[in-house]
Amino acid sequence: KTASDQLLVIFGASGDLTGRKLLPSLYELHVRGLLPERFCILGAARTDYSDDEYRVLEKAHIREALKKKEVDEAELDNFLRRVFYLSFDSTNASEYGKLKDRIHQLQHEEQLPDKIIYYLATPPLMYELIPACLKESGLNVPEKADGWRRVIVEKPFGTSLESAQKLNKHLCHIFDEEEIYRIDHYLGKETVQNILVLRFSNGIFEPLWNRNYIDSIEISASETLGVENRGKYYDGAGALRDMIQNHLMQLMAFTAMESPSVFDPEPIRDEIVKVFRALRPYKTHDMDHLIVRGQYDGYRTEKNVATDSTTETYVAMKMFIDNWRWSDVPFYIFTGKKLPEKSSEIVVNFKSTPHQLFAGQCSGGSCNKLIIRIQPDESITLKFGLKMPGAGFTVKQVGMDFRYDSLSKSYLPDAYERLLLDAMLGDSTLYARSDALEASWRLIDPILHHWKEEGAKNLFFYAPGEDGPLEKARLGMVPKDCPCQTC
Ligand code: BG6
Repeated sequence: KTASDQLLVIFGASGDLTGRKLLPSLYELHVRGLLPERFCILGAARTDYSDDEYRVLEKAHIREALKKKEVDEAELDNFLRRVFYLSFDSTNASEYGKLKDRIHQLQHEEQLPDKIIYYLATPPLMYELIPACLKESGLNVPEKADGWRRVIVEKPFGTSLESAQKLNKHLCHIFDEEEIYRIDHYLGKETVQNILVLRFSNGIFEPLWNRNYIDSIEISASETLGVENRGKYYDGAGALRDMIQNHLMQLMAFTAMESPSVFDPEPIRDEIVKVFRALRPYKTHDMDHLIVRGQYDGYRTEKNVATDSTTETYVAMKMFIDNWRWSDVPFYIFTGKKLPEKSSEIVVNFKSTPHQLFAGQCSGGSCNKLIIRIQPDESITLKFGLKMPGAGFTVKQVGMDFRYDSLSKSYLPDAYERLLLDAMLGDSTLYARSDALEASWRLIDPILHHWKEEGAKNLFFYAPGEDGPLEKARLGMVPKDCPCQTC
């Protein structure tokens, strides 16, 4: 499938996301011949640049973002010829006439059809204002019969159930639901999409993929970095809003959902919503046993962070999905900053055999695992016990590995490449739907309330480089290293 000719307007064009992710990903799509023949990017932001000045600036950003790869200078220049810039104040409704004129001019000069994607790569407080101004100037609806409009909204989508509902209502007043693309870059990761293929294209996993054979599931995203220069945003968000409500809950949905009857956006998104709706709500008196929050030492002295901040930089939680397939199977979800390694993975812990035949055989339920490594070293590993050569019957845990880098000529596209291309194609499968977002906020909201009331009580501290606060042990996760002596 190739995308039709179109124009992409990026609001927040001089920002970090545009230079670090959007333009480098669009450049990669250009190199791989996946962009439509007639395709232009119009960057819009307040700073005063000419087209050429903007191109020079972004050329450096693209080189920096792709520093591990060889960049073909001629191709990069070809790509940059598709990039244009408009200096404009997106907070000022009266400036949208200028935007409209520039769009018309580009459509005319570059022979582009009336097909436009707006990308809101701006601070979240602009998510209401920009679409409202687009509506006021008539830019939200096509002018020609074969035209269309789409809008891509970055996370965070709301900060609570109420604000997410308000934003959804506002956007749906301006665009149709199928024109709204709520991005969650985790869904653009190759390894995340592969969860669906692994589960639904193989007969061997499905019979085991339920409460009868699975002991527990762990879904984690650990990071070594702290908040860096994002203190202003992060201190108001925290790990629960920043990572769990979106990225990790989407991973959970892919792991737990039923198979859709066809691989189309709506049936898939229907199954995701069903998972979120079946999540067991937390009762206030259970929260402190089922959720552990932490903050790394030194966080309060980070730039733009309150000196008495109670914002969590670590969360571990035990969730349950109250449905036929998953009844009483714990899902352990955890994430944190300043942890020992950068890694995201899903570990499916299978139940152990009902009876142990071999001395020292693992009965802890941690020997049979399927490990889906999302990043880095993308891989899928199945762990099981085998006999050690020689006398006796000593069981040893071994692993069967598939590594993405072993696929010849494999190319793992950046998440944004996949998601941008999907939006150009009009495929919303890997974008979040409003009902799913609201359902996820329904679980998260009471926790945020509870923490607000508790303040610093039950906020546990950990040293940077440690594996989160010790109190996480209270959740009863299967230990990483098996306690049996033979594994
Ligand atoms: C972002 C969060 O959405 O995801 C960041 O705002 C986080 O705080 C990042 O660091 C992690 O993404 P990735 O792809 O590096 O795991």
